[in-house]
Amino acid sequence: MKRLTGRQALAVVATAAAVATAALAAQVFADTRPAPADAPKAAQTASTPPADHLPGGQTTVFATGRNAFSFPAANLGDAERTRFVIGNSFFKRNWVQAPASTTARDGLGPHFLARSCGGCHVQDGRAQPPDFHNGLAPRSQAGLLLRLSVPGKNALGGPLPEPTYGDQFNDLAIEGVRPEGQVHIRYETLTGAFADGTPYTLEKPVYTLRELGYGPLAAKAMLSPRIAPQVIGLGLLEAIPDAEIEANARAQKAAGGPVRGEVNRVWDAYAQATLIGRFGWKANVATLAHQTAGAFQGDIGITSKNFPEETCTTAQKDCLKAARGANGKGMEIDDKTLDDVIFYQATLAPPARRNAADPQVVQGQQIFARAQCASCHRPSYVTGQPPFPRLSSPALSGQTIFPYTDLLLHDMGPDLADGRPDFLANGNQWRTPPLWGLGLVPAVNGHSRLLHDGRARNLLEAVLWHGGEAQASRDAVLQLGAQERDALVRFLESL
Ligand code: HEC
Ligand code: HEC
Repeated sequence: MKRLTGRQALAVVATAAAVATAALAAQVFADTRPAPADAPKAAQTASTPPADHLPGGQTTVFATGRNAFSFPAANLGDAERTRFVIGNSFFKRNWVQAPASTTARDGLGPHFLARSCGGCHVQDGRAQPPDFHNGLAPRSQAGLLLRLSVPGKNALGGPLPEPTYGDQFNDLAIEGVRPEGQVHIRYETLTGAFADGTPYTLEKPVYTLRELGYGPLAAKAMLSPRIAPQVIGLGLLEAIPDAEIEANARAQKAAGGPVRGEVNRVWDAYAQATLIGRFGWKANVATLAHQTAGAFQGDIGITSKNFPEETCTTAQKDCLKAARGANGKGMEIDDKTLDDVIFYQATLAPPARRNAADPQVVQGQQIFARAQCASCHRPSYVTGQPPFPRLSSPALSGQTIFPYTDLLLHDMGPDLADGRPDFLANGNQWRTPPLWGLGLVPAVNGHSRLLHDGRARNLLEAVLWHGGEAQASRDAVLQLGAQERDALVRFLESL
C-alpha cells in the first residue's frame, strides 16, 4: 500500500470513523428495542445476557475486514479523534537508530525486539509464533516475546531479572551492539480423542535460547513465552471497577468448586502504587500508561519520564556504551507524544458481533454456558472511571460491555504452565483473556493462532489446552458431538 502522509491518514481514519458512527447510530436504534415478552429465555440467563452483540456498548464499531481492530471508539468527540490519529501514527511508525536526521523518531535500541509497536501488534491485532517447526526463530520475526527471570522477587514484588540478560530476551540490536541471541523452538505432539472417537493432536512448543551474545544464562533462569495480543477495548477493561474484579474472586471462592481465580496486584510506575493487575497474559500490568511506556522501553528501547533507563545489564558493556552515546536524557519520547499513544491504546474500539442471532450461534452460546466457560470468561460489566482520566476518555465510562473475562489468574494445569511467577501469579497461572474480537483475528491477521504463546492453531484447540481449574469445562467439550462442537466454535467466531 502507498504510504499516506499524516494528513491523508487523518482524513482516511476520520472518514472511516464517520461511516462507522453513522452505521452505529442506525444499528443501535434497530437493536435496542426491548425484546418481546415471549422471546426465548435462553438469552436472559446470567451467563448469556441480552444485547451482547454490542460488546463495547456505545463505543462499538461495525467493522469486519482487515482494519476491524483499528477504529476509534464510535462515540469519541472530534478533538479525541485527532488525538487518536496522532497516537496511531506513533504506534505504527518505525523508530531509527540515533543520531538520525529525523530526531523525533530516533533512539531505537541498543537492544530491541521490533522497530514499532505495530511490528508485533500487527494491524492492532495479534502476532503468531514463528512459522517453522524445528529451529532458530529468524531474528526480527517479531511478535513472540520471552520474559526472563530467576527465582526471587525484586524490591517492588515483581520478578527478579536474569542477571546477564535482564527481564526479557531481545534478539535485535543497533549497529555495534550484540543481540542477546535467538530463540529455538521444538514441538512435541500430544494426542487425544473426543468421546465420539474423533482424534485430535496438539503441538506443545519447547523453547531454548541459543546463539547467546553475553555468555550462559543463570542456572535457574525461567522463561515465559508470550505472544502480542490484539489491543482492542483495553480502555474499557481499564475502566472496570476494582470491586467487580474482587467480587469475581469472592464469588468463585464461595461457589466452592475447582474454579478459584485470584487477583494479581502489581507495581504501577504511573500511580507509584500497587494496583490490581489487568493487562498482559498474567495480569502483570495494572494500567495502559505503564504498559505502553514499559513497552517503549523494553521492546523498542525508547526511554521516557517514568522509564528513563535503557535495559542494558552491567554485563552488557557494548549496550551500556551505546546507551550513554544516545541522547542520554532518558526521554527519547516526550510526554505529550507518549500520552497520545496511551490514549490511542485506551480508545481502540471492540467491533460488533456478527451473526449473533444465528440459531447455531445461539446454540453454541448455550453450550458455552453449560460447559461453565462463563465462570471465568464472565460476559458482562458496566464500566466506571479509568485510573488516569487525562489518558483516557469519558466516552468509555458507564458502558455496558461484553469482554468475556474475569481478569483473574487461574491455574490452567501443567501443559500450559510456564513455571515463572509474575508478581502474585504463580508458574501455573494465566489471566483469563477477553474473548471479544477473537472471531476477527483471521480477517485482521491472516491466522487463527491463540493462547499465551500462540500454540493453539484454532479456537477448538485453544479449548482443548484448558486444564487445571478449567479441566471440567474441557472435559464437557470432549463429550460434545461434532455438530455441538461446531456450534460452540461458531459462537466463539461470532464474538
Ligand atoms: C516484541 C513484540 C511487541 C512489541 C514491539 C510491542 N508489544 Fe505490546 N505486547 C507484546 C506482548 C508479548 C504482550 C503480552 C505481554 C505480557 O503478557 O506480559 C503485549 C501486551 C501489550 C498490551 C496489553 C494487552 C492486553 O490485552 O493485556 C498493550 C496495551 C501493549 N502491548 C501495547 C504496546 C505498545 C503501545 C507498544 C509500543 C510502544 C507495544 N505494545 C510494543 C508484544 C509487543
Ligand atoms: C478456569 C477458568 C477458565 C474456564 C472455566 C475457561 N477458560 Fe478459557 N481461558 C482461560 C485462561 C486463563 C486462558 C488463557 C490460557 C493461556 O493463554 O495459556 C483461556 C483462553 C481461552 C481462549 C483463547 C483466548 C486467546 O485470546 O488466546 C479461548 C478461545 C477460550 N479460553 C475459550 C473457553 C471456552 C469455550 C471455555 C469453556 C469450554 C473456557 N474457555 C473455559 C480461563 C478459563
